[in-house]
Amino acid sequence: QNCILIGAGMDCGKRRRGCVMGPDAYRTAGLAETLAELGWQSEDRGNVPGPVWVENAPTGEVHALAETIEWTRLLTEAAEDAMAHGFPIFLGGDHALSLGTVAGVAAHAKREGKPQFVLWLDAHPDINTPQTTTSGNLHGTPIAYVTGQAGFEGFPELKAPVPPENVCFIGLRSVDAPERASITEAGMTAIDMRQIDESGIAAPLSEFLARVEAAGGVLHVSLDVDFLDPSIAPAVGTTVPGGATFREAHLVMEMLHDSGLVTSLDMVELNPFLDDRGRTANLMVDLAASLFGRRVFDRRTHSHS
Ligand code: ARG
Ligand code: MN
Ligand code: MN
Ligand code: MN
Repeated sequence: QNCILIGAGMDCGKRRRGCVMGPDAYRTAGLAETLAELGWQSEDRGNVPGPVWVENAPTGEVHALAETIEWTRLLTEAAEDAMAHGFPIFLGGDHALSLGTVAGVAAHAKREGKPQFVLWLDAHPDINTPQTTTSGNLHGTPIAYVTGQAGFEGFPELKAPVPPENVCFIGLRSVDAPERASITEAGMTAIDMRQIDESGIAAPLSEFLARVEAAGGVLHVSLDVDFLDPSIAPAVGTTVPGGATFREAHLVMEMLHDSGLVTSLDMVELNPFLDDRGRTANLMVDLAASLFGRRVFDRRTHSHS
């Protein structure tokens, strides 16, 4: 079992800086060592040399469009290539990196003839377009791009758009009006925090995993730090109160491991400059550990090879 660590210190998907330090924070928190304890070899490919230190665009304008396009090109390639060699873990970097990573893994899945599914663990659905965004921050747009929505002129042409019905959001609690409209129109599965309060987090996740399995699909997981409640994960620029608890988040990762369906992972939006003695970086590494098989007792219900 082989993991490929790809540092993507993208920091231009929004104006507040610090995500550039994310990849090294995960390394410092011992991600590779943790994976090794779980029986996973990892190959660290270092950091993708995308543009950093971009000057802030004026308020209201789209920030760092050209740089984001360049990152998208680089990461699409890196992701598609890594998929042929193992299980890629993309160490962010802000969420704009998923413009490229999801495009790349979906291109790989298409070549293998498998439907690509995406699980978006986030307070936000990130389904704005460069036209609908009011912040001008492109980390709020990757889902619109990878599902093939219009408005991404200048970005690489998608080899394999992800069907909107293959996307599942869990943890939503901050959704812009145009985002709500496109989620409804596209018929995407959107689990907000109220639904988690009412039904628990396991039921809607099981339902989605059953769909992925029935379709013979592969699953990309995109984990935004702000999925988590800010009280346990302070190191993110876009905290929203009322997020997933420690156990809800681990349960999601444990269930994902047991499903055997996950083939790629983004760990995004960690801003180590805002962290409290590394606790958010450590929590993210522990969540990755649950996804890669850390458990108290064996409860495996599926056996994929
Ligand atoms: N919806 C807001 C926007 O488009 C917030 C996006 C936050 N995204 C994130 N990846 N943290 O600006
Ligand atoms: Mn493959
Ligand atoms: Mn996000
Ligand atoms: Mn978010």
